[in-house]
Amino acid sequence: MTKSKQQGRLYIVGVGPGDPELMTYKAVRVLERAPVWLAPKAREKGNSSALRIASGLIDIRGKEILEVRFPMKKVRLGHEQEDPEVLEGWQQAADTVLSRIDIGKNVAFPTLGDPSLYSTAFYLLSTLQKQRALFEVTIIPGVTAITACSAQINSPVGLGDDIISIVPAAFDDERLRHVISTLDAAVLMKVNRNLAKVIEILDELGLTDKAVLVERCGLEDQRVYTDIRKALGRKLHYFSTLFIRKRGWRM
Ligand SMILES: C[S@@+](CC[C@H](N)C(=O)[O-])C[C@H]1O[C@@H](n2cnc3c(N)ncnc32)[C@H](O)[C@@H]1O
Repeated sequence: MTKSKQQGRLYIVGVGPGDPELMTYKAVRVLERAPVWLAPKAREKGNSSALRIASGLIDIRGKEILEVRFPMKKVRLGHEQEDPEVLEGWQQAADTVLSRIDIGKNVAFPTLGDPSLYSTAFYLLSTLQKQRALFEVTIIPGVTAITACSAQINSPVGLGDDIISIVPAAFDDERLRHVISTLDAAVLMKVNRNLAKVIEILDELGLTDKAVLVERCGLEDQRVYTDIRKALGRKLHYFSTLFIRKRGWRM
């Protein structure tokens, strides 16, 4: 289908990691104007984190809010086609977007943190682009959990000649050990279920005291663990990010 003047537009909007006041002015403006929001959530009966953050600052009365389920599964790049449930989630979301933009409505897709980091938004976008060669989108960047957490612990993520790596620690992965042992600094996202293994590696490398963990940054129940062993055995929230800086996370 060729692009007609009546077609709406998709806006992928980073809403920051939790504190609604960390949304950018542009994000707020775009979300306020969009009549339809497509909000991603991980579980059928759960809530959308991105929706909760955005609606903390924006009045959603009168908007069409469509919560779509994106199954929260580990997706290895290049293996996406192997899981029908995942593909179905993306396809349903894409169909919902098309059904609204084809009648001229703009659709906003609020997403946690910044869209460029591990956001389902790009799976949605690539599904849409496979269906419509001319599909156009506007992406609004957001404050990422990395920078928000770093502000909470008064620490740089990297400084001077530090080389930094960002790691999705949910994967049981040899690369994790390699990254931690070779780089100056690392940020481990999705670390909540793998903390014991991470601590094992850090202990082996003598780096456990160089790590700090931030759970639910910017939210009322935020916790910062400067001794990460204290987090062991606790059921950590998915919003947990671990920082390792070999030169020390304190200046
Ligand atoms: C799917 S990734 C999304 C990252 C997001 N796009 C960003 O820019 O921050 C989810 C991971 O982000 C981190 N995260 C998101 N919100 C957080 C918060 N409020 N506090 C700590 N970590 C958070 C956690 O590591 C979580 O497992």
